[in-house]
Amino acid sequence: MSQELRIGIVGLGRLGKRHASNLAFRVPGASLVAAASPVEEERRWAERALPGVRIYSGLPDLLADQTVEAVWLVTPTSLHADQTIAVLEAGKHVFCEKPLALEVEDCDRVLDVARRHGGQLAMVGFMRRFDRAYAEAKRRIDAGELGQVFHIACRSEDPIDPDGFFVKFAPTSGGIFLDCCIHDIDLVQWMLDGAKPVGISATGTRIMYPALGECGDVDNGFATVTFESGAVATFHVSRTSHQGYEATMSLSGTKAGIDIGAGLTRVPTLSRSTGGRFLEGQTDFFQRFDEAFLLEANAFVEAVRSGKPSPLSLEDAREATDLACRLRDALKV
Ligand code: NAI
Repeated sequence: MSQELRIGIVGLGRLGKRHASNLAFRVPGASLVAAASPVEEERRWAERALPGVRIYSGLPDLLADQTVEAVWLVTPTSLHADQTIAVLEAGKHVFCEKPLALEVEDCDRVLDVARRHGGQLAMVGFMRRFDRAYAEAKRRIDAGELGQVFHIACRSEDPIDPDGFFVKFAPTSGGIFLDCCIHDIDLVQWMLDGAKPVGISATGTRIMYPALGECGDVDNGFATVTFESGAVATFHVSRTSHQGYEATMSLSGTKAGIDIGAGLTRVPTLSRSTGGRFLEGQTDFFQRFDEAFLLEANAFVEAVRSGKPSPLSLEDAREATDLACRLRDALKV
């Protein structure tokens, strides 16, 4: 391997631009050498923002670039499984944004191919695991400080988006449980060490964004999952927050509890708008998880360079898709 890991990114949309800038300028040991997008405007952005990076219009051209050692997929979720397979079969390492796929069968196809390419790293982008607060909670659970965890309450709220980006995004995102709640699903399964879900229920609303009904999606999702151990996880995931971006988790154990993400702020200022209050600095997930995205990229580069296993396995990503699909299918509104 070269001194720096040579990475090519595919997808330069809302999140792809952020990953590209991180990989180009902020991740030690990484060198962004190529970027691909089918959208001309995004390629023009790359020419301006990523000097010296080779620019392609799609994954096949980028895969043919022999200098690329690892591929970063930040493309619509409906493409993830096939593109991850294509990257592995081209002999390169792969990072794929969450979720790995919208159906378990597609995750299984990826796992089959990955088993045949064991020398290549494959990792899915559940970046919240790299957030210092969630990582600390996991450390305390593993150290036994909480005793037996019996309830995890998760809340992930996106601020109201007057442009309705997510309504356009919904047909390829898989809906609120696969697109948004999947972060909390992955975290709960991680915190509970892969505990088996034995009972689920889900409901939701689409009162603010009725157009989501066309693809069976909702603007607020609520779910309860009971695990074999008796632990219960509750999820509330929303696209309609009046108080800005929020991602919180409250864990209760037999010895202690821990709250994550509540009251987090960069500027100690409490704002009020449309009847709500929010802490400055949490307008979107980029601000809340900026450091986590960087730590995630560092972990990928470090794992490739050291030959260690993926810090976030495809098997875990499969389990997250499995539970998210079951919640999606349980949703009857
Ligand atoms: P987006 O729609 O803004 O960007 C998608 C990109 O994929 C665009 O650059 C588009 O040109 C490109 N693209 C479309 N078809 C393509 C094809 N056939 N070949 C190559 N490129 C193609 O979407 P966004 O918000 O950037 O999301 C992308 C992925 O990132 C999704 O899977 C989403 O779930 C994930 N995501 C993860 C987040 C996280 O918290 N980890 C947050 C936001 C998104």
